[in-house]
Amino acid sequence: MPQSSPSRTVTLTDDTTGESWKLERRSGTMGPDVIDVRPLPRLSGLLTFDPGFISTGSCESKITFVDGDQGILLHRGYPIDDLAENSTFLEVAYLLLMGDLPNAEQSTAWTHNITYNTLVHEQLIKFYSGFRRDAHPMAVMCGVVGALSAFYHDSINMQDPAQRAKACYRLIAKMPTLAAMAHKYAHGQPFMYPLNSLNYAANFLQMLFAVPAEPYEVNPILARAMDKILILHADHEQNASTSTVRLASSSGANPFACIAAGIASLGGPAHGGANEAVLKMLTALEVPANIPEAIRRAKDPNDPFRLMGFGHRVYKNYDPRARIMRRICHEVLGTLNLANDPLLQVAVELEQIALSDPYFIEKKLYPNVDFYTGLTLRAMGIPPSMFTVLFAVARTAGWVAHWQEQSSESKPKIGRPRQLYTGPTARSFVPMAQRG
Ligand code: CMC
Repeated sequence: MPQSSPSRTVTLTDDTTGESWKLERRSGTMGPDVIDVRPLPRLSGLLTFDPGFISTGSCESKITFVDGDQGILLHRGYPIDDLAENSTFLEVAYLLLMGDLPNAEQSTAWTHNITYNTLVHEQLIKFYSGFRRDAHPMAVMCGVVGALSAFYHDSINMQDPAQRAKACYRLIAKMPTLAAMAHKYAHGQPFMYPLNSLNYAANFLQMLFAVPAEPYEVNPILARAMDKILILHADHEQNASTSTVRLASSSGANPFACIAAGIASLGGPAHGGANEAVLKMLTALEVPANIPEAIRRAKDPNDPFRLMGFGHRVYKNYDPRARIMRRICHEVLGTLNLANDPLLQVAVELEQIALSDPYFIEKKLYPNVDFYTGLTLRAMGIPPSMFTVLFAVARTAGWVAHWQEQSSESKPKIGRPRQLYTGPTARSFVPMAQRG
């Protein structure tokens, strides 16, 4: 694969003074070229200004590619549709982390490593009883994942490749266990230990829904659906939570703390919290007759209301994950005899109305991955407060891949953005008696 390399230059000119500075234009293997502005402060004393990172490539990466205009998502070159159809979550996690699909031997070793690391230290389990039962499980996850660094001291040295590898598979292995415990704790049910006879997704369902008092049989259709949902959420290049993980790790912070930071960022309603928000919105709409009012509010610039599950910073076309998610939603609801779920009807109609509305067309607002996720998870018996936790379980695969990629760089650089300062200029201290 060709490396990104200097190719052309771009000249930046100050129209007032006529001064100009030459900057390198660099090409990747796909996607827009970038202007390498790193020398700019040294050459000109100027900084670039880009709140929200609308036009900033924050790093060089080989993991995931998104073409938002075409609606394309590739992991290490493989289209998401292909992976969702033919792969498994654990295989995709390996692909993200290692750069290629595993051969049979690698797959066996990888699956063994994950399966035999799903238990968490018994002492860590006691952390849960420190939380209120009505705490949001994302708050609980932030705490317990951060606490992992206090337990696994042999995998927190990011300079050591063997420790880095161990941290990655430990995190992927333990996330479903921790997530299921957050769910059980909220419901006052006993924690279920992982079962090594089950695959990753089936084991997750078992830990979420089984009780020790009776046998629990995992529905294979639901287990496969869960596996696909995990694949769809596994990575999405430099999104807010992944960038948070990278920024946290740039200071040399340990991997468990960095993933806890990612979880904190993911929880926001503009990011991973949207799947929960979509279900709340659909529940509030109740019937299709209420859709026009919601559309009116979403278009009103003076109303903060937005159609949750619609719009994306990068996709200006149908999110390819949303298309697959819609299919999974219909499959799961069909399997569970819920095809007539009134909220599904609200969702389908809302999507159709929004997609033919000039406001949404003009602003290129399409359903994103969250639009059909909430309905699917709800049908599977997962409470809304757990939706984003599930997203975090899946996204751990991407987070650790990005963490690993950044930690392996030969010349790591601490992330340290600058600013356009618009506060007061230097002034003298005013004693209390002279303050107005
Ligand atoms: N409903 C109504 N209007 C919207 C919506 C929406 N869902 N999303 C964007 N707009 C409008 C927005 O008001 C703005 O209008 P104007 O140009 O008149 O100011 C324009 O579209 C551009 O929006 P923006 O907020 O500047 O775009 P952004 O790239 O900063 O935000 C977003 C992207 C995902 C935060 C936003 O579309 C949104 O809030 N969507 C709803 C929440 C959601 O579904 N989030 C899940 C994202 S996908 C999963 C993930 O990656 O975590």
